[in-house]
Amino acid sequence: MISFKELGLVNTKEMFAKAVDGGYAIPGYNFNNMEQLQAIIQACAETKSPVILQVSAGARKYANQTMLRYMAQGAVQYAKELGAEIPIALHLDHGDSFELCKSCIEYGFSSVMIDGSHLPYEENVVLTKQVVDYAHQYDVVVEGELGVLAGVEDDVSAEAHTYTRPEEVEDFVKKTGVDSLAISIGTSHGAYKFKPGQKPEIRLDILSEIEKRIPGFPIVLHGSSSVPQDLIKMINEYGGKMEEAIGIPEDQLRKAAKSAVCKINIDSDGRLAMTAAIRKELAEHPEEFDPRKYLGPARELLRALYERKNIEVLGSADKA
Ligand code: G3H
Ligand code: 13P
Ligand code: ZN
Repeated sequence: MISFKELGLVNTKEMFAKAVDGGYAIPGYNFNNMEQLQAIIQACAETKSPVILQVSAGARKYANQTMLRYMAQGAVQYAKELGAEIPIALHLDHGDSFELCKSCIEYGFSSVMIDGSHLPYEENVVLTKQVVDYAHQYDVVVEGELGVLAGVEDDVSAEAHTYTRPEEVEDFVKKTGVDSLAISIGTSHGAYKFKPGQKPEIRLDILSEIEKRIPGFPIVLHGSSSVPQDLIKMINEYGGKMEEAIGIPEDQLRKAAKSAVCKINIDSDGRLAMTAAIRKELAEHPEEFDPRKYLGPARELLRALYERKNIEVLGSADKA
């Protein structure tokens, strides 16, 4: 058992309390490799933003859990080297079982998500409470979820949104003891969030209804990539094929961040930036074969994207 505290990480209690009070959101950025992690730390150090480093079950499989843990530990030291005293949490994204959450806690995670959103309500309550009871013994915080996002999450996919029912949130929070709650209000995972012709809009009315039921309680928004159209254009210009990819408008996320939403999850936008830059470099310099020549510019574009998000969308800059 390694405590997250030994790794220099923090849990999200203090960052969430400050974010709820201050009307901004902490970034939940996913990473699978070194360049993504470097870009996240560079951007958050530069903008003095707290950050939640997210590892999905898929990322764990891809990169290896031991590698990821030492990478997170390295990230803490790297931020210090950059001269930034920023709070950094390591979070399991979309944990689907008690065993996975337990294992991550034993490996030094400071926060875990138990995603029981696909289960019947009572089963979600029982599973989430089991994780909370275990995690809290080690001062690790837990994110639960109510409502189902449309789209694909690992192996589970849902055709349509099942919006979170505001009348359930108070009971869920009370019975489970979760520290934060992910909700479904029209965001979804991936790059294709809305159909062409559909109005890209999230249900801020449901959010405000939820807020009324659990005032001041930390709310989390998943599926919050905006799918910048300049990145889609760049991908398509250099040989990609991504048509009609539409994300969540940034002004709507800004509004959500000003309310009880205190964590906003962004993964796909980073993937798009990385792919766009790599495609461009490889297309423009077909003679190159040193990965640093295309991963370097990809990391640079990622860093710029995260900095802009912290400043313009989440409002987390200068809040460390
Ligand atoms: O919510 C899902 C995240 O974007 C992680 O995606 O399971 O493909 O790593 P992944
Ligand atoms: P996006 O696919 O919109 O980036 O969402 C990421 C996410 O919710 C990670 O949990
Ligand atoms: Zn998610």
